[in-house]
Amino acid sequence: MPDRVSDGQWSRLSEFIAQTTGLHFPPERLADLQRGVAGAARELGFEDTAACVGSLLSAPPTAAQVEVLASHLAVGETYFFRDRKTFDVLAADVLPGLVRSRQGREQRLRFWSAACCTGEEPYSLAILLREALPDLDDWHVTITATDINGRFLRRAATGTYGEWSFRDTPAWFKERYFNRTADGRYAILPEIKKRVTFVQLNLVEDVYPSLATETNAMNVILCRNALMYFTPPQVRNVIRKLHHALAEGGWLVVSPSEASHALFPQFVAVNFPGVMLYQKSGAKLPAKQPWMPAPPGEAARFVAPEIEKPSPWVQQVPVPLPTEPAPAPAPEEPAHAETRPTPRAMAETLYRQGRYADAAEMLAASFAGHTPEPQALSLLARALANQGELTDALAWCDRWITADKVDPAAHYLRAVVLLERGDVEQARASLQRALYLQPDFVLAHFALGNLARSGGKTGEADKHYANALHLLGRHQPGDPLPESEGLTAGRLTETIAAMTGMEAVP
Ligand SMILES: C[S@@+](CC[C@H](N)C(=O)[O-])C[C@H]1O[C@@H](n2cnc3c(N)ncnc32)[C@H](O)[C@@H]1O
Repeated sequence: MPDRVSDGQWSRLSEFIAQTTGLHFPPERLADLQRGVAGAARELGFEDTAACVGSLLSAPPTAAQVEVLASHLAVGETYFFRDRKTFDVLAADVLPGLVRSRQGREQRLRFWSAACCTGEEPYSLAILLREALPDLDDWHVTITATDINGRFLRRAATGTYGEWSFRDTPAWFKERYFNRTADGRYAILPEIKKRVTFVQLNLVEDVYPSLATETNAMNVILCRNALMYFTPPQVRNVIRKLHHALAEGGWLVVSPSEASHALFPQFVAVNFPGVMLYQKSGAKLPAKQPWMPAPPGEAARFVAPEIEKPSPWVQQVPVPLPTEPAPAPAPEEPAHAETRPTPRAMAETLYRQGRYADAAEMLAASFAGHTPEPQALSLLARALANQGELTDALAWCDRWITADKVDPAAHYLRAVVLLERGDVEQARASLQRALYLQPDFVLAHFALGNLARSGGKTGEADKHYANALHLLGRHQPGDPLPESEGLTAGRLTETIAAMTGMEAVP
């Protein structure tokens, strides 16, 4: 029972919860913490709360345990078109701008409902797009919806709701987009349902943006009514990572009560009637062929961007770059070059800071007049892919492959970019090529599994997932996977297990 847990233990548990989930339980919320942990203890099969607290404090919990804990501690309140004004602004002001900027180019739009709860928010977004974009079917639109709580996500994936989820929507809305079920609930139309992909993601612990989890190059991220429950350092940590996950010009949407000038220094705050949104606005993208190197003999015009010093209060999570050994200094470098970072090193720093456009610009400019090394080509292709500049990313992947035909990572990245463009057949060929070059490439097996699954080939999908699980069994759970930019072996194992019901290989 709670009274067998000492004050010191509760305080350490509160710190631990803040670290793993972001959720904030100061002393005045001790009763909420005790209630939630008692529920989690029962669900996790502990004899009592004290045993659960003791166990959580003595050994690192699994992601599944963290999820159960979060499901008992986090507020799971949501409904369709919550804060209606925000959706009005998205439809009237944000969407037209995004459409204009991408029309006739790559007609792609990427949305992320981070902390989506039981799905009302991302489905509202899907319905808004259906209403606001008459030519929606001509666009490649992705709506990724994530939450820490797998149970919420499973409910979201059913797409079935009771009256209470419609507390702020007019009657026509239900009639147009839902079918009545035999038990009096409302099932969302398949045409809307299929537009949303639900994925489990802990905003505090998991790595994003990541090409592997499709959390990159977002045009709009909704992260509403979750940050308000986080500790201040975790709020800043999450906002920084969300900033990285946005494409240039992308928008972060928080709830009206979370909007604050102080918390979003990296963003431009844009005030709409009754709604404050935050726009990522960094390097300006040149209008034409932005990332092609300068023609031979022509000097690249480039002003090095200022590199941010990490703020002391921001927990820096280093994103491992998929680069090989440090480059040997170029022979023509002047003597003082030792003390000055190379353009590639500076671009790597910019990349880690989420400044993909700056990193790309620096690399492209540094290529003028000489043949770039494969690692630099790799970094440029990734920076462009992270910005959603897929045509250019593909062109640089091809240059990378020309420079180093047998690097499986190059073929894998090419496949990821092709998948984002919807070019499934070419992507499959690139994944197969990556596996030919490196048969134990876990992420390539996983991606081929996803491809087979979305094509309805369950047997083939299971074969790839089983291969991936087998290979994951050779890693420690905390090992970051190559080419994943930080996705751990344990997390991918859990994801595959949750998707397929397959057991992890011990
Ligand atoms: C109040 S709901 C918000 C739902 C929706 N965004 C809205 O505004 O209506 C808060 C959600 O945050 C989720 N959450 C809490 N901590 C999280 C974390 N560390 N990572 C991801 N989601 C988290 C909870 O599971 C819950 O679904």
